[in-house]
Amino acid sequence: MFDFILKPSSQKYQHSQVLDDILEKRYRELVVKHHIQSDAAQIQILGHLQQLLDNISAQVEQNKYLAFNPPFSSAQQTTKSLYIFGDVGRGKSMLMDVFFDACPIKLKRRVHFHAFMQEVHDYIYQSQKQNKADPITSLAIQIRKTSLLLCFDEFHVTDIADAMLLSRLFTQLIKQGIIFVATSNQHPDDLYKNGLQRALFLPFITLLKQSAEVIELVAKEDYRLLYFKSMETVFYVGDREKGDIFLQQRFNELTNNGVVEAKTLWIKTRTVEFSKVHGDILYSTFDELCNRELGPADYLAIAGEFNTVLIASIPVLKSEIRDQVRRFVLLIDNLYEKKIKLICTLDQSLEKIDFKDKDFDIKRTLSRLLEMQSEKYFQSDGLAV
Ligand SMILES: Nc1ncnc2c1ncn2[C@@H]1O[C@H](COP(=O)(O)OP(=O)(O)OP(=O)(O)O)[C@@H](O)[C@H]1O
Ligand SMILES: [Mg+2]
Repeated sequence: MFDFILKPSSQKYQHSQVLDDILEKRYRELVVKHHIQSDAAQIQILGHLQQLLDNISAQVEQNKYLAFNPPFSSAQQTTKSLYIFGDVGRGKSMLMDVFFDACPIKLKRRVHFHAFMQEVHDYIYQSQKQNKADPITSLAIQIRKTSLLLCFDEFHVTDIADAMLLSRLFTQLIKQGIIFVATSNQHPDDLYKNGLQRALFLPFITLLKQSAEVIELVAKEDYRLLYFKSMETVFYVGDREKGDIFLQQRFNELTNNGVVEAKTLWIKTRTVEFSKVHGDILYSTFDELCNRELGPADYLAIAGEFNTVLIASIPVLKSEIRDQVRRFVLLIDNLYEKKIKLICTLDQSLEKIDFKDKDFDIKRTLSRLLEMQSEKYFQSDGLAV
């Protein structure tokens, strides 16, 4: 009856004792096989994740014998969830992945928090169309059927619709006995800071702190920088198809195969949409950045918002596309000044670019682009917040 909780025996899971320190063991394997650095702060976080893993395993054992009770009902639940916060690039998502892979249950899901909330809104919208009562409770019951453990990557709240919903939603999820692990750049107290009607959001913060252990990952460094230093090239020149593969791979490595979402930047009184964003990483194209009506304020905002920008398909810069080139110059100036990391693909190498215009100077841009590939540039602190 409970086979949906336990993984098949091929997963080696026998008893929680077997899992002792399995996370640290897997981490050590990563250190050896993938040459990641051993970091005491990360190992400390793994200790908390291991504790949670042990608790889940123990509860699974216990529930195997409670044939007529739904496993992990709220009455039985003693296990606290986990909320890991910390600066960018410290390895939060990576550690969560180690935990997720090792967790010996079938009913688990790892999802980008924003994507999860999209699904929640869709469900509520459909329920309301069908005049169904109490959609949040029925949604929590639905979620519980497929997920006992939810791993949320990049927990953040900027949207008022999410903010107003979270307290009710999480109350129901917790009631269903669902356990969650979340990674975030913010402490719960800082979530939805300065958001509209924040007072109505505060009960959620209280609930979060009650139901989850909140821990900070203070790792040695931003490991994404190490990654930049180890890259042979950040600028790929040549065939577009291969260039796209190059860029996608760099993106996957930088984000641990992170999910992309659309993002809207509010710039003064208007909005600018980007189709692919992961946290502070913008995955864009020359067309998206330079082939639409963007101006100085927009490029300033882009450089303020992102820490790394990937630009696909920078074409041969020539006078026929003078307007786009002018915007490109502005873009690079802003990225350079804020020390934003740049990875891009170009149709033509920088040395071959021969573009002259009486109104603006591309020489400075080319020299900046050369510098933006250097290790020294990567090491300088980005000024973007
Ligand atoms: N100890 C380490 N040694 C080397 N590389 C590491 C280490 N920890 C993480 N990394 C790498 O650093 C990059 C960033 O890690 P990760 O995406 O997990 O960070 P994060 O804390 O989730 O960042 P963000 O807050 O931006 O989501 C990844 O490529 C990851 O594999
Ligand atoms: Mg992350």
